[in-house]
Amino acid sequence: MDYVEIKGGQPLRGTVQVSGSKNATLPILAACLLTSKTSVIRGYPHLRDVDTMIRILRALGVSVRVSYQRIEVTPGKSRKFVAPYGLVSTMRASICVLGPLLARQHKAQVSLPGGCVIGPRPIDLHLKGLKALGAQIRIEHGYVVAEAKVLKGSDIYLGGHFGSSVLATGNVIMASVFAKGRTLIEDAATEPEVVDLAEFLNKMGARVQGAGTHVIQVDGVDRLHGADHTVIPDRIEAGTFIVGAAVTGGDVTIKNCRLGHLNAAVDKLQQAGVDFVRSDGALRVRAPRRLKPVDVTTLPYPGFPTDMQAQMMALMSVTPGISVITEKVYPDRFMHVSELNRMGSHIFLEGSSAIVNGVKSLSGAQVMASDLRASAALVLAGLVAEGKTLVSRVYHLDRGYETLEQKLVQLGAQVRRIKK
Ligand code: EPZ
Repeated sequence: MDYVEIKGGQPLRGTVQVSGSKNATLPILAACLLTSKTSVIRGYPHLRDVDTMIRILRALGVSVRVSYQRIEVTPGKSRKFVAPYGLVSTMRASICVLGPLLARQHKAQVSLPGGCVIGPRPIDLHLKGLKALGAQIRIEHGYVVAEAKVLKGSDIYLGGHFGSSVLATGNVIMASVFAKGRTLIEDAATEPEVVDLAEFLNKMGARVQGAGTHVIQVDGVDRLHGADHTVIPDRIEAGTFIVGAAVTGGDVTIKNCRLGHLNAAVDKLQQAGVDFVRSDGALRVRAPRRLKPVDVTTLPYPGFPTDMQAQMMALMSVTPGISVITEKVYPDRFMHVSELNRMGSHIFLEGSSAIVNGVKSLSGAQVMASDLRASAALVLAGLVAEGKTLVSRVYHLDRGYETLEQKLVQLGAQVRRIKK
């Protein structure tokens, strides 16, 4: 079990390059299943979750050739349709092979995703969408089994109790690309990762319109061919470095960052007193030593991203004053609170809100990562804590951040990985 050790006190200064988006890469790799031809995915992040998706594709009989710059995916004539429990249980996003397998193999058997620490991870909206297209769905032995001789275009309302669903939107788009006629998906997710998936599908010959809005239209086609695609930058990684600059009073230039993908987070940080300067495709972030407390409510895109909630809490924990952070997407996503409190923060929970009473300083401690973004928040807190912070279970970090320590060291942080 590895640890990440952080010695606090250094402001982040310099330039960092953001990697490709994990949450764009995963559904796009799944979309490669929609053709027997070869697709090339470029600019992908070198992460554990991407490795897992590649292993799932190979378990489905797909040829996958990986080099540092590109992933070459050739499904060929494979008729396999079972995504195994052993792999799916390690990554919830595996559920996004359900739609493409159903569309191309007319059958799919995908292990039910487990829950995770950020809360129950239901798939009722995924199944609602596939049923609306004509699939028969049954749950047996912990697997979702979906079958459909013919898929027919349909009008589908896909909004859920917590708003739109990113991967359900992606799954239903992919399931509908060969459906007879037109499919309309209403209350679709508008995240940039859905737009990137739609762009890749259209390069393959699909007819997807309206991605990025709440109404997506898919006109069925007979078949798709391979495509060559470079995934968008990871907006959450960019946001994590923005908060890193803010929390350390630093001055960081972030390259390969699509500012338009982070408006809500940038707006909130500007309210807190962070200064942003755009310069040719990069974003310069400068922060005063003292920020103002702000209240945050997470919402589906374009609202404040739930994947930035933990990082924002780390920032507010050392911003004197009271901040209220309300989680509307995953109401239980507060595992990081107890770990931040072990570092001296004063945070208490009231339903789906965290009341943060900012303190002057945190103290380094041994803390435990619980999910991908919580682990990033603990690293950020360690950057400003007095003394050393030791973050365990860093495999959570490795799922979603490419060489995070190296990037932080490059910005002047005192961070190192300790292999146990
Ligand atoms: C995607 O997960 C991201 N993962 C998550 O990022 C992100 O937190 C989430 O979107 C919200 O932005 C990937 O893209 C791989 P949802 P997804 O379906 O699609 C409820 C990270 O850190 N819901 O948009 O699984 C759900 O419980 C990860 O990179 C249903 O009720 O999330 C949640 O409350 C963590 N029924 C809300 O909708 C369903 O069928 C939004 O979830 C599906 C979801």
